[in-house]
Amino acid sequence: MAPTTIGIILNGATGRICSTQHLANALAPIRDEGRLPAGGDRIVPNLILVGRNAEKLAAIAKSYGAEWSTDVDAVLADPAYTVFFDAAATAQRQGVLERAIAAGKHIYSEKPVALTSAKGLELMRAIDAKGVRHGAVEDKLYLPGLQKLSRLAASDFFGRVVGFRIEFGWWVFDGTEVPCQRPSWNYRKRDGGGLILDMYPHWRYVIEGLLGPIRRVVTSLSTATPERIDERGERYTVDVEDSAATLLEMESGATGTILSSWATRVRRDDLLTVQIDGTQGSALAGLHKCWTVSNAQTPRTAHFSIATDLGIDYRTHWTEVTDGGPARNPYRVGWEDFLRHIATGSPMKADFAAGIRDVQFAEACYRSMKDRTWIDLAPRS
Ligand SMILES: NC(=O)c1ccc[n+]([C@@H]2O[C@H](COP(=O)([O-])OP(=O)(O)OC[C@H]3O[C@@H](n4cnc5c(N)ncnc54)[C@H](O)[C@@H]3O)[C@@H](O)[C@H]2O)c1
Repeated sequence: MAPTTIGIILNGATGRICSTQHLANALAPIRDEGRLPAGGDRIVPNLILVGRNAEKLAAIAKSYGAEWSTDVDAVLADPAYTVFFDAAATAQRQGVLERAIAAGKHIYSEKPVALTSAKGLELMRAIDAKGVRHGAVEDKLYLPGLQKLSRLAASDFFGRVVGFRIEFGWWVFDGTEVPCQRPSWNYRKRDGGGLILDMYPHWRYVIEGLLGPIRRVVTSLSTATPERIDERGERYTVDVEDSAATLLEMESGATGTILSSWATRVRRDDLLTVQIDGTQGSALAGLHKCWTVSNAQTPRTAHFSIATDLGIDYRTHWTEVTDGGPARNPYRVGWEDFLRHIATGSPMKADFAAGIRDVQFAEACYRSMKDRTWIDLAPRS
């Protein structure tokens, strides 16, 4: 197989998600293994890391054998790089994607692909006008636990799905006693922060990928921690939500709930759990594991006792799904799909339009809170 080299610009390369998942766990291994097939050829990524801090960039570039630059416009002008990937902080995404599209690069973007769906649609029009290829990071459905859940949904295990529940989150320290675990821009509106803009794009493709179209939503959000300490040790005001509760109605008639919070302490099976209940059985997935209970295994609960704890461990009725399949890094799956799409035109489910629908879902939840009402989601085009 002949090598097809694809030059990729990684913007925001020193950031948490770009340096760990996209570079270390996806692109560097794809390049080093050198055998990603595409048609009759094999794809070999050629990477240039872009950011603002030369020292940090040089260090990361050295460990991964990549080029680096702090001059994004100079890199955009270089025809050796045909793909532009943005994983820098959310607020400056629009401007940098506009420049990359104008330079004729294929576009791959972290979520959220834009701050609003209107802005996302502007980008989509520019992408279409240039005729470049496009994709959005939609990694969570490729988590091993959710892959098992997807297979169950595809196999009719559930019968008619009647409901689902997503629970997500953990305690994020405010920085006074224990350093905060997340960048401070996550908690400032002007920087693209907020739990809904951050996490709800994921919940959109997870829910619709598993269960089909969402009909409408109603959301309540709140800010549990109104002040935090930033990376420089300075106190700042949090002006975005850090907790949200959403009720959803699906086109199928099923209803679901999402509870997401940076102000909760974990006492559930995993940091993220997704439960689906159907007429034939239920399943619950965490990040890695998945458990099922069929009608035959379901206890015939008839009462509870106010006087005595019945001492039942309800989890014992559930069976762990062992059909794992090989665990693959979810970000790598996305990159392999996108690189094949560029090289051969193979279908790209997680395209920029999907990324815009992810933003539309987040937007509908914000609007629901503002207007204190249910919001219909536009039908999927
Ligand atoms: N797919 C996922 O599960 C996932 C997980 C985390 C983050 N993300 C997304 O990835 C992006 C980065 O998040 P992160 O957690 O890695 O953040 P981070 O703060 O660790 O990294 C952000 C990067 O952007 C750079 N940056 C910050 N402000 C900038 C500016 N004004 N101009 C240019 N560069 C700037 C920083 O130097 C850093 O390199 C966000 O859009 C976030 O929503 C996605």
